[in-house]
Amino acid sequence: MTATILNGKKLAQAIREKLKLEISKQNITPQLAVVIIGNDAASSIYVHSKEKACLEVGIKATTYHLETTITTQDLINLITKLNNDTNVNGILVQLPLPAHLNTQEILSQIDPQKDVDGFTALNVGLTLQKHPQAFIPCTPKGILRLIKEVHSDLNGLNAVVVGRSQIVGIPTAHLLLNSNCTVTIAHSKTKDLANICQKADILIASVGKANFFSKEYIKEGATVIDVGINRTENGITGDVKYEEVIEKAGYITPVPGGVGPMTIAMLLENTYEAYLKQKQL
Ligand code: GUN
Repeated sequence: MTATILNGKKLAQAIREKLKLEISKQNITPQLAVVIIGNDAASSIYVHSKEKACLEVGIKATTYHLETTITTQDLINLITKLNNDTNVNGILVQLPLPAHLNTQEILSQIDPQKDVDGFTALNVGLTLQKHPQAFIPCTPKGILRLIKEVHSDLNGLNAVVVGRSQIVGIPTAHLLLNSNCTVTIAHSKTKDLANICQKADILIASVGKANFFSKEYIKEGATVIDVGINRTENGITGDVKYEEVIEKAGYITPVPGGVGPMTIAMLLENTYEAYLKQKQL
């Protein structure tokens, strides 16, 4: 079997075009504040892509590029200012933060109504509750959107999520559970990982290790979602050994062009939704 490619770039483009149309029809300009600290090369590339995508759909992005030496208090002061600025609809603090900053303490300062990343405790809870007002984290939301393109019915499917990060693994597992999948969360301490993965109708690969998942991990015909973005000497590769897994899977996301563009499209969608909620439209 050769897998069908789940083209995240194409789906993301369609979502962006729809958003662009909605925003121009309503003659509005939602605003996103992006906070980036330090000079991490990968973070700078991601932020640049987010700014470019905002511009393209008619969202105004304002980036605050701060020194690595910033104190927790100064960062909290900036977030408070952005919370109180009625022109700002969404706030994104690019992760990871430098080691001296307490990520949870800082993210918890963001007004949940502007938390377009869905990282505050309130939005985490609302996501678990399947609450319509929840801001769902962008990567998990994009992953579910991709999966639903090819699985109209997720009832009872075995989903295995490998990786338990707060940003990807845990929220993705909850979204799959809320869609009636039978969900297993595996991680670096899991025993006999290949055996568990082989039972997955849907495999979410999110371990951050280049080419980790060989065909021995894959059930014939499975849907394989590769969340990895690993910089290697051969360029960017995912967590999945694409060339061999494509011969066994039913559907597979490429890297690049799979989950990455969907994350950005979901950020735009969340920012637009934040605007509508704040203006009570
Ligand atoms: N770093 C990697 N992914 C993300 C994301 O989705 N949001 C933020 N804020 N930082 C990230």
